[in-house]
Amino acid sequence: MKKTSLLISTAVMASAFVAVPNFVIDPISMSSQAVAEQVKKKKRHPGKRLYMRKTCMACHGKGGARPIQNYPSVSAQPEKYIATQIKDILSGKRVGSKDENGNVRTAPMTGSLITSEGKLRISDDEIKQIANWLSTQPPAKVKPLETPLSADQITAAKKLYKKKCRACHGKGALKPLKNYPVIAGQNKAYIIAQVNDVKNKIRKNGKIKSMYPMVKKLTDDQIELLASYLSQIDRSK
Ligand code: HEC
Ligand code: HEC
Repeated sequence: MKKTSLLISTAVMASAFVAVPNFVIDPISMSSQAVAEQVKKKKRHPGKRLYMRKTCMACHGKGGARPIQNYPSVSAQPEKYIATQIKDILSGKRVGSKDENGNVRTAPMTGSLITSEGKLRISDDEIKQIANWLSTQPPAKVKPLETPLSADQITAAKKLYKKKCRACHGKGALKPLKNYPVIAGQNKAYIIAQVNDVKNKIRKNGKIKSMYPMVKKLTDDQIELLASYLSQIDRSK
């Protein structure tokens, strides 16, 4: 009798002892680095993981702020603007003109995110997560122009901006109306392409029609000047 109970209690003790390392993590025995890593893992935004998994990074770069070619930087924009544009591009509501290679500007993105059978590779919820994450990421760094603008050109650009753009895109192009895009610090080639697509009424989605009258009479030189000026505004300041 005595022997059996001893045996049982030993077994219980043994199993308890074995079980401990399986489900109790003792923070004291973990190195502080391991603890920090655990915390970081927990905090990693699902939008960030999706941004990598859905290959957005290949075209828009790290954190959405290092686009390739004439592609847009997509970080630090209003969350709603980002989500709407992704959906509009994927649904075909937003299209673009043809680039110098003869490809419709939105085609790289639809090509990556829509299967050949026309199925979306991304859900609305995933778009929401990515948009939420991108909206919190730092804006792109300014890419200096090959030939910096002269003081006179900057004065002329500021004047034109104030007259034609400021009402919606805000002071210094930094404080747009609610859910409108920030155009300061955007990729210069992308700004030129978009303003032309708006001028030619190729971009028709969202509230863009309100911009039509403002760009209707802009010349190529004025668009170039505005894009140069806007691309050099440093959003980190
Ligand atoms: C193969 C390249 C490519 C991939 C992959 C790609 N994009 Fe794009 N994206 C583009 C291009 C090019 C444009 C601009 C289209 C235009 O000029 O009309 C664009 C436009 C956008 C815009 C609109 C930007 C603005 O300022 O209006 C957002 C937002 C965006 N992409 C987010 C994403 C996200 C998020 C992913 C991943 C789920 C993604 N893109 C994957 C190429 C890509
Ligand atoms: C009456 C309001 C209004 C004015 C004025 C205006 N815009 Fe816009 N602009 C918009 C709206 C709205 C959008 C985004 C449309 C959407 O939500 O799809 C936009 C989008 C843009 C985009 C595309 C941004 C991106 O990330 O794709 C650029 C570039 C731009 N505007 C430049 C300009 C410039 C340059 C001027 C002045 C010549 C100007 N806008 C004047 C309303 C305006």
